Amino acid sequence: MKPYISVVIKPTLFCNESCSHCYHTPDERVRGEMSLETLDRLMGMVASEYQAVWFIWHGGEPLTVPMSFYKKAIELEEKHFGKSSFRVGNTIQTNGTLLNRRLMAYCREKMINVGVSCEGPYNSVLRELDPEKAISMLSDKENKYSVSATISRETALKQREIYEYYRDRGTNISMSPVIPAGCARCNGTVPDADEYIRGSIEAFDTWLHDADSKVPLIPHYLYVLNYLGDPTPSDCAHTSCLTKWICVNPDGSIYPCAKACPPEFCMGNVNSISSLDEAFHSEGFRRILAGSVARREKCASCPIYRYCNGGCSMDAYHEVGLENTDGDSCRIFREVFTHIADEIQRLLDSDGDYSGINMFVRDALVGKLVNPRVVSQRSRIPAPLS
Ligand SMILES: C[S@@+](CC[C@H](N)C(=O)[O-])C[C@H]1O[C@@H](n2cnc3c(N)ncnc32)[C@H](O)[C@@H]1O
Ligand code: SF4
Ligand code: SF4
Repeated sequence: MKPYISVVIKPTLFCNESCSHCYHTPDERVRGEMSLETLDRLMGMVASEYQAVWFIWHGGEPLTVPMSFYKKAIELEEKHFGKSSFRVGNTIQTNGTLLNRRLMAYCREKMINVGVSCEGPYNSVLRELDPEKAISMLSDKENKYSVSATISRETALKQREIYEYYRDRGTNISMSPVIPAGCARCNGTVPDADEYIRGSIEAFDTWLHDADSKVPLIPHYLYVLNYLGDPTPSDCAHTSCLTKWICVNPDGSIYPCAKACPPEFCMGNVNSISSLDEAFHSEGFRRILAGSVARREKCASCPIYRYCNGGCSMDAYHEVGLENTDGDSCRIFREVFTHIADEIQRLLDSDGDYSGINMFVRDALVGKLVNPRVVSQRSRIPAPLS
């Protein structure tokens, strides 16, 4: 059995929202649900081929599908993996506008994480509906979710403010840029890369010196851990995700990524294959793998390759072509990661007085200092090879 896979399931592509940046175009966001037979087949294959799985319920808007669907889905998980199995985890990624107390109680009972897409005070820049209205009906106890903010041209320099907004509410926050796919291809919502870099570094610097912050800032915190060495968890863009992630559409078609993946990379259909291994031997998967390998060959001289792993193939595909580097996402990672690495190295080289540094970074630094095996010169970024 293989150790682990993340499976993004899109139970529907339909959505009650029409975000200006969405990588799914309005003609894709149509009604139609994944059948329980497709879900049953998918879970059967995952359970027999992988020791552990994380299901991410996505879309379209996953909460336009009735709650009874998710109850059946959890029953299927229990059928294939066993009750309260440590082999399975779940996250619902939602626009938050349809959250309610009953659903939140169910998610708590079944330990389902809830991720809400929202940009706090700047939510209306990309979205028409405001999840705060639904969220405000939940009590503090029910109100446990994390937020993903998608950063556009208008909010590139507001990242610090968005972090502070969620920090003051004690809500975990992650930020990522709009990529030029689907609706965002040519409507001016993609941020200017230099402004994004500036805004992202400002948010990190504020978080780093926020001694009282109770929230990790993502992806920055993951970059800190990545720089400090083993274990090196990171966001999906920098983990060499091919073979570790798949996305399944309502009709059962399988793709290597959830982000607007074109038909040329389709890996087959759950309803016509007998194992996921077969999907990883498809022509669609071979194509994305070959293009990604060609891109990574161009990364060979990059000083941070071992932290980046060549970045996200779909970001590259939409920005500069699958086989090319130096798109906005590459530049953003290079600049932001290098800044974070410099700051962390400065702290490691200092006298060890970490007062005034936030507890996540403080704990990571102290943890690594008591285990010197993972804090050493090898953590330093080498000089560029060319
Ligand atoms: C496609 S939505 C699906 C789930 C749900 N409807 C939601 O909005 O969370 C998942 C995430 O993708 C983000 N997203 C959509 N289009 C994007 C784009 N062009 N670039 C980057 N992120 C995008 C959304 O902002 C959202 O956080
Ligand atoms: S980003 Fe999510 S909420 Fe917005 S239109 Fe796309 S699927 Fe719907
Ligand atoms: S930062 Fe860019 S060039 Fe460097 S490894 Fe990542 S994708 Fe390749």
